[in-house]
Amino acid sequence: MAASGTTALRFSVCVSITLTLVVRLVYANSEGDALYTLRRSLSDPDNVLQSWDPTLVNPCTWFHITCNQDNRVTRIGNIGSCIDWHTRFGCPWEACLLNDVSSLQWGRLVELTMLSVDLGNSNLSGHLVPDIGKLEHLQYLELYKNNIQGTIPSELGNLKSLISLDLYNNNISGIIPPSLGKLKSLVFLRLNDNQLTGPIPKELVGISSLKVVDVSNNNLCGTIPTSGPFERIPLSNFENNPGLEGPELLGLASYDTNCS
Ligand SMILES: *[C@@H]1O[C@H](CO)[C@@H](O)[C@H](O)[C@H]1NC(C)=O
Ligand SMILES: *[C@@H]1O[C@H](CO)[C@@H](O)[C@H](O)[C@H]1NC(C)=O
Repeated sequence: MAASGTTALRFSVCVSITLTLVVRLVYANSEGDALYTLRRSLSDPDNVLQSWDPTLVNPCTWFHITCNQDNRVTRIGNIGSCIDWHTRFGCPWEACLLNDVSSLQWGRLVELTMLSVDLGNSNLSGHLVPDIGKLEHLQYLELYKNNIQGTIPSELGNLKSLISLDLYNNNISGIIPPSLGKLKSLVFLRLNDNQLTGPIPKELVGISSLKVVDVSNNNLCGTIPTSGPFERIPLSNFENNPGLEGPELLGLASYDTNCS
């Protein structure tokens, strides 16, 4: 009896999620265009972006994309919430892509992040595009452990809902855009193991939500900030940047020491 009750629950959860999915598909959404521009600028030998089909009315059914209840894209990469629905209720992947993860507890979210299949480690190369900055509800940009080149578009500073910017372990060059200081919801900023140059932008000190910063293994210069959220970041998260001095000597060393 318990088993059939579980089956009925599982069935009803899946049916209701699937119905919600169908209803939400009716909306049109231009965010798919921005994502399709990203797909075209990436090389994807393992076809992980194959489901990113611009002829669908919105990108919310694409793999590795999560949307909120209004069909706005909240996550690129990382389908942790789907893993949860999938393992707990046996729902098909397609039925859980719209599940809104923002209501989950932080601890749970971190746990799911580590479990999840996502666009990290997906053998992607190519470069990022300014169009990503149009996804104004985006919370998670998870593109770590690929071979992405080029620079970080300054337009990423427009992602005012962004919680996590994970671009570590790629081949990204250029500066850390000062515009990232506008990301007032940011908690995770992991840019380590790239080819980034220039200083750590002073603007980042003003992001009070920031909990994790890792810029180790780059070619950054200047001094390590010590105020605001940077008070709590371990020095190891800055190591292996030959031109980076630090921590900031409280006014004795100028901010752009060693930056020519
Ligand atoms: C990554 O892509 C290359 C082709 O660019 C391929 O030779 C290689 O097997 C792929 N690696 C994995 C882990 O899929
Ligand atoms: C990293 O990017 C540079 C160009 O910025 C390129 O010359 C180099 O081959 C790339 N490294 C890898 C491992 O792809």
